[in-house]
Amino acid sequence: MPLKIRRLSYALGAEIIGADLTKPMSEEAFAEIRHAFHEHLVLLFRDQVLTPEQHIAFSRRFGELDVHPFSRYNLPGYPEVLQITNHVIDGKPSDTRNTGRQWHSDLSFTTRPALGSLLYCKEVPEVGGNTMFANMYMAYETLSPGLREMLDRLWAVHDMSMGKDIANRDPAFMAEMKKKNPPVAQPVVRIHPETGRKALYVSEMVTSHFEGWTFDESRPLLNYLFAHSVQPEFTYRQQWRPHDLLMWDNRSAMHLAVADFDHSTPRHMLRTQISGEALGRVAGQPAAQSTSAAA
Ligand code: OGA
Ligand code: MN
Repeated sequence: MPLKIRRLSYALGAEIIGADLTKPMSEEAFAEIRHAFHEHLVLLFRDQVLTPEQHIAFSRRFGELDVHPFSRYNLPGYPEVLQITNHVIDGKPSDTRNTGRQWHSDLSFTTRPALGSLLYCKEVPEVGGNTMFANMYMAYETLSPGLREMLDRLWAVHDMSMGKDIANRDPAFMAEMKKKNPPVAQPVVRIHPETGRKALYVSEMVTSHFEGWTFDESRPLLNYLFAHSVQPEFTYRQQWRPHDLLMWDNRSAMHLAVADFDHSTPRHMLRTQISGEALGRVAGQPAAQSTSAAA
C-alpha cells in the first residue's frame, strides 16, 4: 500500500497513513518517511500495536539510540526505552511523570543533543495529556532581518538546573546529573544538517542567558524569543490515542507536555531517542553585572 501524507496543522506535523511498523520496511518507503520527517518536523503513525523490539527497530533506522541515564525509568530489559509515566515504579511515584512541562528541545543542555525522539502511547487520560510542538524554523524566519543578523552570531547557555521540575526530583540523582551536565553554550541559531535551514535554538526550560551577556541583559530578549516561538500559529497540539507513535525533530522543533489532565488517571508512554551530532561546548561564566560608575 503506498504511503499517504496528511498534514496535521499549518505550522508542522504530518500523519503517515499506510505504514505498518511491525513489518520490515523497504528502503524506498523508509526514504519517503525520512524525507517527510525533514519536511514536517513531527510525524504521527496511528494504530501501531508495537512491541518494544519493533519500536526500537524502527527508531534504529534513523541512527544510533541514546541509552538514558534515568535508569530507574528504563523499561526493564530495554535500556533504549524510557518510561514517561505516572505509574508507580518500585513503590515510588515516577520522576518522569512531569517530564517536559516547559518548552524544550531534548538534551539541548548537553553537547550531544538528541536528533529526535519517538514517543509511543500506551495509556492516556480520558481527556488531555496533550503534547505541543513549535516550528523553530518559522520562529526564526518571522523575526526581522536586523534581529536575525544579531542572533546569528550569538551563543546562549543551556543549563539543566534552570528547569522548574528539577526541585521535585530525587535530590541525590539530580546532584549527580548536574555534575555530569555542566552548563553548555549552544548557537542561538542552529543550522539543520539535513535541510540547511536555520532554526531558533533557545528554550524556556533551560536557556539561562546569552554568552558574554549578563542575566539581566539577556532576560528581556530571551523572554521575547520564548513567547515569539510558541505563538499558536507556529504550533501543533497532539491529542494522543493509545497505539500512536509520534516522532519529532529536536533540531527544528520544540515541545511541551501540557499538564491538562486528571493526574490520578494513568498516562503511560514509552520513548526512544536518536543520538544527535556533537553541538556546543562547556560554557564560560556569565558576564559580571555592570556596576555604576560611582566611586
Ligand atoms: C519527552 C517529553 C512529552 C510528553 O518525552 O521528551 O518531553 O508529552 N515528553 O510526554
Ligand atoms: Mn522532551
